[in-house]
Amino acid sequence: MTIQINDINKFYGSNQVLHDVSFSCDAGDTLVLLGPSGAGKSSLLRVLNLLEMPDSGTLTIADKSFNFSDDISEKQGMALRKKVGMVFQQYNLWPHMSVLDNLIEAPVKVAGMQKEQAKQEAMQILTKLQLADKADAWSLQLSGGQQQRVAIARALMMKPEVLLFDEPTAALDPEITSQVVNIIKDLSKTGITQIIVTHEVDFAKKVASHLLYLEKGHVVEYGDHSHFTQPQSQAFADYLKH
Ligand SMILES: Nc1ncnc2c1ncn2[C@@H]1O[C@H](COP(=O)(O)OP(=O)(O)OP(=O)(O)O)[C@@H](O)[C@H]1O
Ligand SMILES: [Mg+2]
Repeated sequence: MTIQINDINKFYGSNQVLHDVSFSCDAGDTLVLLGPSGAGKSSLLRVLNLLEMPDSGTLTIADKSFNFSDDISEKQGMALRKKVGMVFQQYNLWPHMSVLDNLIEAPVKVAGMQKEQAKQEAMQILTKLQLADKADAWSLQLSGGQQQRVAIARALMMKPEVLLFDEPTAALDPEITSQVVNIIKDLSKTGITQIIVTHEVDFAKKVASHLLYLEKGHVVEYGDHSHFTQPQSQAFADYLKH
């Protein structure tokens, strides 16, 4: 089990946004998080790399365990985020740097990798994502789809065990979305566990091995890909229809 999350409760002030959320993932699983706006998908995703601290519950991820009733330090969060990467909807690339420099920044400055080795690894990843010819381009000069792939490449530089995506296809046209589908499928074959928040049911069906459907912070449906064709709850069946 790469990820095991149990009875997570999260409040913002008096507003409870996650209620006793539990699930688990094996290595290489791709779990999609679905649900209406405000259901708590992004909050749950951010719990998985300790960008958000729940009020109670436990999390085991990438061989580390946390009990949220205890204090968890920022240092533990930073250490975990080296193994649990995140690709944001706003790609957050450094605009004043080349694509290659965007990729090697964290491995060299944070992880202490030799610059030449980082460059070699970056070129391998860029080649795999069909971006090798963009290595020297400024990230601002790239299309949205190219920037999204650079953001994925940058996350892969840290050799994460788990990769988290928040709405990775929100601003992309169908052709680029299908490239992202292929990237996610290839990554899953390498054993990386992926958790993906999305609004797009067609995209979710293509990439998911498992799904978790939330409403108002409650898990309403959770299971493998067969739940897309045989939903167990009326609420998820209704969600799939629109
Ligand atoms: N930093 C915050 N402070 C206070 N409330 C927050 C904060 N972040 C989120 N919330 C609240 O938590 C609830 C869940 O938000 P969250 O962003 O997790 O939903 P979501 O499912 O990702 O929605 P969307 O599909 O619109 O992105 C919402 O009611 C939201 O207003
Ligand atoms: Mg969200």
